[in-house]
Amino acid sequence: MATPCYVWLWLLVTLIVTKAVVPQVMADGPVTFIFGDSLTDVGNNNYLQFSLAKSNFPWYGVDYPGGRPTGRFTNGRTIGDIVAEKLGIPSPPPYLSLSPSDDAILRGVNYASGGGGILNETGIYFIQKMSFDDQINNFKKTKNAMKVKIGEAAAETLCNNAIYFVGMGSNDYVNNFLQPFLPDAQQYSPDDFIDLLTATLNRQLIRLYNLGARKVVFNGMGPLGCIPSQRVKSKKGECLERVNEWAMQYNSQVSTLLRRLNSRLPAARFTFAETYHAVLDLIQNPGKYGFKISNTSCCNVDTSVGGLCLPNSSMCNNRREYVFWDAFHPTDAANVALANELLSYPPFQKLLPSKAPSPAPSPH
Ligand SMILES: *[C@@H]1O[C@H](CO)[C@@H](O)[C@H](O)[C@H]1NC(C)=O
Ligand SMILES: *[C@@H]1O[C@H](CO)[C@@H](O)[C@H](O)[C@H]1NC(C)=O
Ligand SMILES: *[C@@H]1O[C@H](CO)[C@@H](O)[C@H](O)[C@H]1NC(C)=O
Repeated sequence: MATPCYVWLWLLVTLIVTKAVVPQVMADGPVTFIFGDSLTDVGNNNYLQFSLAKSNFPWYGVDYPGGRPTGRFTNGRTIGDIVAEKLGIPSPPPYLSLSPSDDAILRGVNYASGGGGILNETGIYFIQKMSFDDQINNFKKTKNAMKVKIGEAAAETLCNNAIYFVGMGSNDYVNNFLQPFLPDAQQYSPDDFIDLLTATLNRQLIRLYNLGARKVVFNGMGPLGCIPSQRVKSKKGECLERVNEWAMQYNSQVSTLLRRLNSRLPAARFTFAETYHAVLDLIQNPGKYGFKISNTSCCNVDTSVGGLCLPNSSMCNNRREYVFWDAFHPTDAANVALANELLSYPPFQKLLPSKAPSPAPSPH
């Protein structure tokens, strides 16, 4: 396998060159850019004055350092925070907290927005949120600001070497297609809706590629039918099989799309992180992972409307025993389990720059 070795050597060389140009502002670990929804939002929506998709109130953040809400939609860290920790880099700050002149833009940025989806019309009732297209527009602004700071060539290299985490699609169901009163639910069949999502993603990922993205990790959809807000719709509190089937079908089409993009776009290394079955196992066998309860939320707010852990909710006693924090989002403890799953995923590990003096990973 000569080509991957060549790519690795080339990456190493460009990394060294870039480091030599701007040593003081570059990150030590991989630069990461995060695109997503409330599973990875680290505070962007706090800056959207009229957004209804917010979590800047107790008991969000109760287990985050400082114990206060930050705009994360969980009791502690998001999966992105934990992945960053394990990569030895600071968790990329929210895009809306930065100004274009900040050196921080060279070390990674988080564009994720609660309520956001692949489609602009997803989460419409939240008034304000950033869709994937909005997030890519913001990344384009970051890249322009980078060019001003370090020059065009170095900005291009930085973007080529960075790792892009993308996790999108859950809201296109929960806050769009699964709401029968919204136009998309009335207009599309389930198959047509998945085709629309993947056709839109195709365009969006090509745009990201044209802005310099090469190493993209696409986090697949989990078993959406098993989140508490979906379970309450069944008579016995069971997972909604139909919704889980859509999630699997979506995953399969996205994974095919990424393979096609890899063969069409030179140097693209788009990776699909298949986490569906691992998350399902966590939900079906919580004891295996040190959890006790996976069929209801710690805040006891299982409802398909609302479902957030409001200040008047009563939290469970031991938050580490619960997989779900509110009706939609995993607990800090579950995010640790999910991050470990992602990090041990072999295709993901291949994207990491090697830290050892010998750069070439053994081919297989
Ligand atoms: C979302 O809106 C933007 C700006 O109006 C537009 O450029 C983009 O194509 C739209 N995306 C989708 C998926 O409809
Ligand atoms: C969760 O599962 C337990 C044990 O099977 C059961 O007793 C409980 O009623 C379930 N809770 C919900 C909300 O479905
Ligand atoms: C908590 O507050 C919300 C909104 O203020 C209200 O709709 C809800 O009924 C309250 N829940 C409880 C358990 O008091």
